[in-house]
Amino acid sequence: MLLNPEHFENIPPVAEILYQHGDIQARVRELGEAISDQYRSQGELLLVCILKGGVLFLTDLMREISIPHVIGFMAVSSYGSGVRASSGDVRIDMDLDINIRDKHVLIVEDIIDSGHTLTYILNQLETRQPASLNICCLLSKPARREVEIPIKFLGFEIEDKFVFGYGLDLDEKFRNLPFIAVFDLDNDH
Ligand code: IMP
Ligand code: MG
Repeated sequence: MLLNPEHFENIPPVAEILYQHGDIQARVRELGEAISDQYRSQGELLLVCILKGGVLFLTDLMREISIPHVIGFMAVSSYGSGVRASSGDVRIDMDLDINIRDKHVLIVEDIIDSGHTLTYILNQLETRQPASLNICCLLSKPARREVEIPIKFLGFEIEDKFVFGYGLDLDEKFRNLPFIAVFDLDNDH
């Protein structure tokens, strides 16, 4: 894989790299080990990836999980929101095609900002009576939190900045970048 940021075209000039691909890989490896240890002696593990942002994280994470597991996908969107955080008005665009009852469910998400999106997903999935329900999130911005979210496995805690790359989008683009960049809103004139 080409890791040179110059390989990728038209990245905004006000962007800076926050985590290189190697930093992410090292952390994902640790998370994979911790998840394997946690679920080894339990029942079947089901990773529920939240589309679209969680997809790069999921595909790397599952290769670092050494125990057998199943994957599923769910897509949600939030409405009535500003550019940066959701308002809590969340809708399921695509639901899981698996019955999660009595399964050990681990939600795989890209980032937690206000916490509204994951609160909605947690409430929805809880009604389906999984054996356990936890969150694995790559990034968290605690300064932005409006509702408390219990995160079982966390990649990195970050400051209140808008980030993109490695699954996260900037106007739906740049999810393909192998690194995570910060978009400097203050200098985007
Ligand atoms: P929350 O409901 O406010 O926690 O927002 C979570 C969702 O907002 C994430 O799943 C992302 O899709 C999006 N989001 C929040 N912060 C960022 C960011 O810095 N970059 C890209 N997407 C973000
Ligand atoms: Mg998301």
